[in-house]
Amino acid sequence: MASITIRQLDESLKQQLRLRAASHGRSMEDEVRTILRAAAVGPAEAPPARAATRRNERVAESPVLVSKPIVPAGHKRVLLIIGGGIAAYKSLDLIRRLRERHMAVRCILTAAAQEFITPLAAGALAGERAFTDLFDAASELDVGHIRLARDTDAIVVAPATADLMAKMAGGHANDLASAVLLATNRPILIAPAMNPAMWANGATQRNLAQLMQDGVVTVGPNAGEMAEAGEAGLGRMAEPLEIASATEALFGDEGGRPLAGKRIIVTSGPTHEPIDPVRYIANRSSGRQGHAIAAAAAAAGAKVVLVSGPVSIPDPPGVRIVKVESARAMFEAVETALPADCAVFAAAVADWRVATPGSEKIKKQKGKAPLPLALVENPDILATISHRKVKRPPLVVGFAAETENVIENAKAKLVRKGCDWIVANDVSPETGIMGGETNSVHLVTAAGVETWPPQSKDGVARALVARIANALTGEQA
Ligand code: C5P
Repeated sequence: MASITIRQLDESLKQQLRLRAASHGRSMEDEVRTILRAAAVGPAEAPPARAATRRNERVAESPVLVSKPIVPAGHKRVLLIIGGGIAAYKSLDLIRRLRERHMAVRCILTAAAQEFITPLAAGALAGERAFTDLFDAASELDVGHIRLARDTDAIVVAPATADLMAKMAGGHANDLASAVLLATNRPILIAPAMNPAMWANGATQRNLAQLMQDGVVTVGPNAGEMAEAGEAGLGRMAEPLEIASATEALFGDEGGRPLAGKRIIVTSGPTHEPIDPVRYIANRSSGRQGHAIAAAAAAAGAKVVLVSGPVSIPDPPGVRIVKVESARAMFEAVETALPADCAVFAAAVADWRVATPGSEKIKKQKGKAPLPLALVENPDILATISHRKVKRPPLVVGFAAETENVIENAKAKLVRKGCDWIVANDVSPETGIMGGETNSVHLVTAAGVETWPPQSKDGVARALVARIANALTGEQA
């Protein structure tokens, strides 16, 4: 039978073994016996992972000692430090938003963060084990806090608690998060989140001023309801989409801003056409697709004017937003926003409005039939802008929400409206597209029809913005 002694192992393997044994409180020989026993028994009969009682045990017991994610070429690396606050749950969504934007994400959770979310959840979403401890044999051997601080293109702290901000401002380094923040020479973005009284406190404001002087960039906090019942004010963490956009902005031109210097107008959402002061005609558009296009265009460096009908989703970051109610107000806002290099008409504009809306609430009259509503046609914003002789944007994109013969109707619409492209989708109720999260579209141009794979509305927005960038910068789409 073959035999091998520890002395025969090469130095780096011996060092790994020594650390692994030390972290388990075993001799090196015992550690080898444990490894061999586990290997002989096989994964199916391996003893179940012991419920971790201390955080560093959780890491030490992890079967994945070495963690070196493959970062595809051109992807930015983001180290996300998750602080301890109820907003930590939003950081899980932030991981997805960053990855959607082609960023490789590695996470550090502070001890307090682990009271709210687990390293397992963050690691699963990031696709790499999350780091938690400064004095953790496995991670020191694997990457070490200095490498964590340097092997990244930017650090994002979300939520940045009052305590974490104080540590950063004071240069503390008594846990992994603060040590990494002190050791880094990469740009840092913080998304503060705390109770409004803590945010307003002089100490926090002094720390904030210090951090800004040190070159730290902030996003938020926003105003709104707090997790604590009855508390409201400035202190809510910025939304994941806002933080993701602010992260992209950290990379500046380097990150690829193909629409830098271009002006884009986007319409989004439904319109409300008044019947009387309390009633209106509307439709089910959520504004998600239009808002996502505005956000993607802004992230690509464009100056964006978003003309939005009434929606209940947050304003996208980095855009100038003009809020309107009716089709006529939307039309005026679009005209005012001209000239532009491109206009994308994603709004679900009402085709008709009530000819003479009541100036008072229309009353029911007992025994009488309801009043008929006389309708008149609204201006067709897309068609009017497309047919302008002056100030017509060089690229005009319309949408076609159809419930039947999607492509044929879209082709006809391209000609009728005089626009350059139509993004067509099937919005019959069974697709769940109207008001939903995903979209499945065809891009209809004079050159033909492309059918894009079903994807998130953010995905459609990014793909469309990439095509717009190609078209505006010379390449034919
Ligand atoms: O004619 P239809 O409403 O199907 O056309 C949809 C396209 O036209 C969308 O791009 C929509 O934003 C735009 N539109 C418009 N003004 C209208 C009606 C539709 O800009 N009054």
